[in-house]
Amino acid sequence: MSRNLVPLISQAEIASALKQMAVEIEQDYQNRSIVFIGILKGSFIFLADLVREVQIPLENIEFIRLSSYGSSMVSSGQAKISMTPPSEAISGKDVILVEDIVDTGITTNTALQYLQNYQPASLRLCALLDKPAHRQVPIKIDYLGFTVEDRFIVGYGIDFDEKYRQLPDICYLEED
Ligand code: IMP
Ligand code: MG
Repeated sequence: MSRNLVPLISQAEIASALKQMAVEIEQDYQNRSIVFIGILKGSFIFLADLVREVQIPLENIEFIRLSSYGSSMVSSGQAKISMTPPSEAISGKDVILVEDIVDTGITTNTALQYLQNYQPASLRLCALLDKPAHRQVPIKIDYLGFTVEDRFIVGYGIDFDEKYRQLPDICYLEED
């Protein structure tokens, strides 16, 4: 069995979606400063590009690490938290959680609940991709790049078995 890489969303389309998200964030956070918390590893490229677009003072950048997939293409149904930001980075702060792709919603929901425990002043979600086909937990995405079909996405930080993260475009894997 071989897997074909099929381009889905180009670098230029990603850049323009990020500009749009940045405009929305700037409107919502006037006179405030933002703590961005990226979900590792998949959000690392998205977060790096996003923070360079948002023209609002940056309070902090932190990361949280969760895993649900292992090396399989099917969700295991549970998200395990393996790295957390310091509580001072969350409590009383305006926090935006940054996620690569919301699939079942389990990872995002686990991260949001974890952060909420530390009582941020506000907590919103920014996701590059929404893949609603297998949603198990309802998730409100405040800032969204694209909604995608039920395909296995790679590129722009997103992996299959740790590979393909470096691709500049968002692609999907097609099995034949
Ligand atoms: P969820 O917990 O099912 O919502 O999955 C969220 C996580 O699973 C994301 O942060 C991704 O790391 C991974 N994931 C979900 N869909 C895909 C995909 O199509 N390609 C690669 N990783 C995915
Ligand atoms: Mg992954």
